[in-house]
Amino acid sequence: MIIAVDGPTASGKGTISKELAKHFTLPFLDTGLLYRAVGWTLRDQGGDADNVADALAACQFDSALLDNPALRSEVIGGLASRVSVHPELRRALDKRQKDFAYQPAGAVLDGRDIGTVIAPDADVKLFVTASSEARAVRRFEEMKRRGELVNFDDILADILKRDDRDQNRAAAPLKPAEDADLLDTTNLTIGDAIQQAIALVNAKISRRENNGPA
Ligand code: DC
Repeated sequence: MIIAVDGPTASGKGTISKELAKHFTLPFLDTGLLYRAVGWTLRDQGGDADNVADALAACQFDSALLDNPALRSEVIGGLASRVSVHPELRRALDKRQKDFAYQPAGAVLDGRDIGTVIAPDADVKLFVTASSEARAVRRFEEMKRRGELVNFDDILADILKRDDRDQNRAAAPLKPAEDADLLDTTNLTIGDAIQQAIALVNAKISRRENNGPA
């Protein structure tokens, strides 16, 4: 079974995907980390994120980098969003994601284009979203907990800028697949959001079982 989870930053999709992988015993890939690793490597190499050749040169990163918690920073997230607009770069990261999605054991992947581009025939597609204000509050609280000096308005502005870039790029823009189930987490605790996601997957599986193969 392939479960594709897409949605904007701080929607809860990462936590939900990890919990789905645990619940259904499936391997999990956070595809945003691949773009973050490119952003990190590009910064190391002194490259320009808006230059496609520099972005492609940063694709040859060591897989061990994916375990580096520093990839999760806001700065690297911004660079990841900028490099991800280049179709050539997206193609360079395609095979790795598709191989993961279509492994015999099945998989859960989260990102922006999993249900639309990477695994368009995924068994289950979830589009996880939340209002920009709710997402900014979550990000604000998370950064405060880490002891970072943060300003709410800056975080909200950053989230809006990232949404705009991810949704309006020409290549594989962030949008729900036509057959995706929407999960709005604005007014949900993370525990409730996880339970709803599990229920949506189970409902999809039983619909498929009752209707037979499409
Ligand atoms: O999910 P994230 O915040 O770690 O993703 C960082 C950036 O990477 C995001 O702003 C856009 C890009 N991305 C993408 O274009 N496609 C994906 N499947 C995952 C991430």
